[in-house]
Amino acid sequence: MKHSSQFAGRTIIVGIAGGIAAYKAAALVSRLRQEEAQVQVIMTRAARRFVSPLTFAALSHRPVLSDLFRDEPLGHVNLAHRAELIVVAPATYDLIGKVAHGLADDYLTTTIAASRAPVLFLPAMESQMYENPILQANKRALEELGYRFLAPERGRLASGREGLGRFPERETILKAIAAILQESALLTGWQILVTAGPTRERLDPMRCLSNRSSGRMGYALARAAREWGAEILLISGPTTLQPPPGVSFIGVESAEEMKDAVLKNAPAQDAILMAAAVADWRPARREAKKISKSGQDKLVLTLERTPDILQALGENKHPGQLLIGFAAETDELAAKARAKLTAKHLDLIVANELTRGDAGPEAETNIATLIYPDGKEENLPLQSKLALSREILRRMLGLRSA
Ligand code: C5P
Repeated sequence: MKHSSQFAGRTIIVGIAGGIAAYKAAALVSRLRQEEAQVQVIMTRAARRFVSPLTFAALSHRPVLSDLFRDEPLGHVNLAHRAELIVVAPATYDLIGKVAHGLADDYLTTTIAASRAPVLFLPAMESQMYENPILQANKRALEELGYRFLAPERGRLASGREGLGRFPERETILKAIAAILQESALLTGWQILVTAGPTRERLDPMRCLSNRSSGRMGYALARAAREWGAEILLISGPTTLQPPPGVSFIGVESAEEMKDAVLKNAPAQDAILMAAAVADWRPARREAKKISKSGQDKLVLTLERTPDILQALGENKHPGQLLIGFAAETDELAAKARAKLTAKHLDLIVANELTRGDAGPEAETNIATLIYPDGKEENLPLQSKLALSREILRRMLGLRSA
């Protein structure tokens, strides 16, 4: 298998943590150099006990970095900027725990902290350690933040036992690295607007109408598109989530505020992904004082329609601009989604069932049917919202090149 076109000239940091699989990382570094990548090795103190830095210096043709206070002051910051990918091979229980908890006390952890490049961890350890719920929780937390993991293989471990925890085969690692390097530039040059979350429509100074949207789908889309190199503007209603790193952010409350922010920024966008669950109705009157309940058994509210943002975008979209909508329904999902696709002049609609517990507004996972203007329908399997986001972005790229 030849990867040279993908690796040549790419700046890759290989971080080595202190596990017995450190010796296997030597072969990985050697291969990356043969493929003409610029490889910078960083070793932890424990890693130096397993393999001599000289081995890695000779294989990478560069001095190995280890000591934050001796090797090139501020080197980790410059290096973190230049790196296109950081591969931690092997990643130990301790190193994964440190990064997950924001600890950065050596060259490798500070470089990871200072970098915006994708980071790929290759955990390799005894299976009891790999399956330990603490490690698994740390891994999940990092994955939520966009860090990547290549699963270890099952087989004979250093202890002589069989189990899950072996350092993967070199070809498997190279394939994973190639895929990340290729993806990280897929959306370079794209300006994308993503909306997320619910809107809140005020009734009085205390009360509001809203919906169950958590914002997870939109935030995952923003994160995935950013990781692939796009410039992102995330416009979100109130959620408990942190905007992903590197993303411009505007927080709004009502459908009206979301409309203003979206329409103002729409002309500059190559694509707009309307994942927000915009309220369809708002109280026709917004009371200046809190509505009193005393003496009232019933309260009759009059609601009026909010502006349909996506409809307005569809009517004014500029040539080449892609518009992607979302439809969540309890019944007749495909038919209703198809009607919205046509009415709002969309290039793609992502249809979600509202009747499942493992998908929809508050879930970590989602299941979607993608529907295109030519009538084509594609059913995607249940997956994390981040994985689903990558699928949607791939389809979006396909629409641009079609
Ligand atoms: O018509 P419906 O609300 O089901 O359509 C859903 C799609 O339209 C979503 O992409 C949502 O963000 C968008 N929408 C909008 N403005 C509204 C209501 C929905 O942009 N007022």
